[in-house]
Amino acid sequence: MLIMISTRIAILISGRGSNMTALADAVESNRIPNAEVSIVISDKADAAGLKLAHARGIETLVCERKGRKREEHEAGIIAKLQEREIGLVCLAGYMRLLSPCFIQAFTGRILNIHPSLLPSFPGLDAQRQALDHGVKFSGCTVHFVDDTLDGGPIIAQRVVPVFEDDTEQTLANRILAEEHDVYAEAVALVVSGDYEIVGRQVKQRAKAIK
Ligand code: GAR
Repeated sequence: MLIMISTRIAILISGRGSNMTALADAVESNRIPNAEVSIVISDKADAAGLKLAHARGIETLVCERKGRKREEHEAGIIAKLQEREIGLVCLAGYMRLLSPCFIQAFTGRILNIHPSLLPSFPGLDAQRQALDHGVKFSGCTVHFVDDTLDGGPIIAQRVVPVFEDDTEQTLANRILAEEHDVYAEAVALVVSGDYEIVGRQVKQRAKAIK
């Protein structure tokens, strides 16, 4: 009998937590099989997503930086993740750059979602950047996190149109609906292990017959 070991996922947030909720829903509905959301960590005590996670019975933890050095702040988070044997870290609106130390501790096991078609418009205010640039299409990207800003290998993307009368909010809402779906799809692929990274390309492997 083949025993599948469940991947323990940690989700890091800074705010609203709608992507966290979408991932937790996808795990619950088995759209992301063989996984559990073990903990939600926020660097902001008032992040609305913390209450949402707590209400669903997920362990939550606040880890604020409070004037500490980045490495010191992260050391606390890394220790918590290692204690809980976390296999995958999903950044979901976590608005801090991770240090090389964090990235090394979880090499190839940190994902991020970004509200633009990377490599266009990395960093803050991606939707504003897209509108200011006058693009006709934008979207969202799920990628592996490496030591570059929003620059790791791309796992999945979704495209949305940009309309002439769009505001930052209307565009953000259109992109967000796609984020919720594509993040679950990307996490399911990574948890399945059915992929390989060739250069910068994340390639889906043909499923082995079990
Ligand atoms: C999402 O749009 C996510 O893509 C973005 O923050 C929002 C968080 O919303 N992340 C970034 O801009 C990271 N560079 P949520 O808290 O409702 O998931």
